[in-house]
Amino acid sequence: MAGFAMNKALISLARCLALPSAFLLASCGGGGNAENQGSLAGARIGAPFTLTDQNGRKVSWDSFKGKYRLVYFGYTYCPDVCPVDLQKMMQAYAKLEKEAPAQAAKLQPIFISVDPERDTPSVLKTYVAAFHPKLVGLTGTPDEIAKVTRDFVVIYGKEPAKDASEYLVAHSRTPYLFGSDGAPIALIPVDDPGTAEDEGSPATVLAAFKHWVK
Ligand code: NI
Repeated sequence: MAGFAMNKALISLARCLALPSAFLLASCGGGGNAENQGSLAGARIGAPFTLTDQNGRKVSWDSFKGKYRLVYFGYTYCPDVCPVDLQKMMQAYAKLEKEAPAQAAKLQPIFISVDPERDTPSVLKTYVAAFHPKLVGLTGTPDEIAKVTRDFVVIYGKEPAKDASEYLVAHSRTPYLFGSDGAPIALIPVDDPGTAEDEGSPATVLAAFKHWVK
């Protein structure tokens, strides 16, 4: 698989950086079962948290107990990768609602900000609504976000900028799928801009949802 190539290609974008993920690389070496590509079975990702949603309410990891969870970390000012990934994933989710409503009802999409300074609940509210009404946006204090990113093995960091309010945030790009018990199941495919094929197309993401959500 093109883990390294993908990371290099994204770093060249110099905006929504994809930093190497041990889990992405680990999932490449498994070989064999293409059906279960991206499996995160047994990985140590995730932990209880309490954050604030787009309506200003406190939400914890256990608030989603009993549901599969698609968790994507990013930030609303991200100029390229985050909105593209979110659009494809939420298009796939909308298709799942039409084609397999029972499966869709079991799956909760969640966007967690790595830019808590600018991503206030009201900023998140407008942002998530643009993708899908079911998408939950979560933010918190810088300390809360530092902890949740550590627990979910997400790397992020502010890029130096001339204008203090115009900075970019480099972050890893790892759309995780968790099961109804909160354990990690799989990485949902995203596009590798270094290839012609769109690996993260809505059809591919839809197939992954159908494969993993039981
Ligand atoms: Ni981004």
